[in-house]
Amino acid sequence: MRLAKMPGEKTGDSLGLLTKKTVADTKRFHASFPQYAPTPLCDLRRLAEAVGVHRMFVKDESFRFGLNAFKVLGSSYAMGRYLARRAGLFANETTYEKLTSKAFREACGDITFITATDGNHGRGVAWTAHELGQRSVVYMPKGSRPERLENIRAAGAEASITNLKYDDVVRMASKQAEENGWVLVQDTAWPGYEEIPGWIITGYGTMAEEIVEELPEPPTHVFLQAGVGSMAAGVAAVLKNAYPENPPTVIVVEPTTADCFYRSAAANDGKRHFAEGDMKTIMAGLACGEPCSLAWDILTHTADFALTCEDFTAANAMRILGAPLGDDPRIISGESGASGVGAALALLCRLENKEMAAEIGIGKDSNVLCISTEGATDRERYKDITWHGAFAAPDVERE
Ligand SMILES: Cc1ncc(COP(=O)(O)O)c(C=O)c1O
Repeated sequence: MRLAKMPGEKTGDSLGLLTKKTVADTKRFHASFPQYAPTPLCDLRRLAEAVGVHRMFVKDESFRFGLNAFKVLGSSYAMGRYLARRAGLFANETTYEKLTSKAFREACGDITFITATDGNHGRGVAWTAHELGQRSVVYMPKGSRPERLENIRAAGAEASITNLKYDDVVRMASKQAEENGWVLVQDTAWPGYEEIPGWIITGYGTMAEEIVEELPEPPTHVFLQAGVGSMAAGVAAVLKNAYPENPPTVIVVEPTTADCFYRSAAANDGKRHFAEGDMKTIMAGLACGEPCSLAWDILTHTADFALTCEDFTAANAMRILGAPLGDDPRIISGESGASGVGAALALLCRLENKEMAAEIGIGKDSNVLCISTEGATDRERYKDITWHGAFAAPDVERE
């Protein structure tokens, strides 16, 4: 594991995308969907005892809209906002009922949404397009798992796996959108493409808003896994705003092979730095080399540390969450989903990380918050890891 301090300060309120009012409106929008229910926030008391912290909370996003991952919160909100504007609706008037009415459909016409995805985001785009009576096209990077492709097709999209790595698939989707007059719904921003990714970040705010309502005690340490960082940005901003007096320490977690936030933090020049190479990792959702420009901007103010972790830390957390201690609830968590918990546990339980744990200030008085951002979205690999011990951790050195 490697740790770097993020450049920002604890400002409490750094951004207009996620004001309290906007986030409340966003949650109201999501709650208007018939499939909506807040996902559970699991209180893992026995695990907390076992690893020596005060409390350990894990939000289980495998229950989100029946789609097994949090991602649909971003795409549904962004697509809803886009369509609402076409039909002349204000953001706070947008509801599922209005978006799916016959009159609204006629006012909007037929639209094709396009995106690039490792799986979860594409499934959210496909599902939302289908729910709202529109068409979607989804491209995936090389090495994408067939089960994830099938799930996207089953949600109603025309989907295929390309020969390109993630960041290049994004460029391809963007070009196709331009050539065909389609709408690109990408969960990452770059200079000149910020409105839709901004809405996506706002959409993730619903998850954080639920957490604030569900938490019995304020968190002290929040571990947020990052691909392009949009999820971490949306959640970190809401949590920092919710606890201005005692803001939690926010740690952005990435695979060692896709460590763009770590690199950007370590360079300490306020600029984004990219990870290169194939970014091989089991954490498919986090295999992104270029931070979202908006997320980077938000996280420089709201995150405290960037931390890289190896594949075995995520695999270890998948096993631990799936085989809980005592009466702790069971959480089925996928590779990207379990990485935040994995990073927290690796800091707390592995002697070689002791200095980093001290720097982050995590210990017996800590209330740790993590999000299991997906369930078993690749069941074959889930079984390899949980049954057969694939990606086993090297022996633990104990005190
Ligand atoms: C399960 C899961 N967790 C976390 C992330 C990271 O989200 P972001 O790319 O917004 O950083 C992703 C991204 O696809 C994901 O699929």
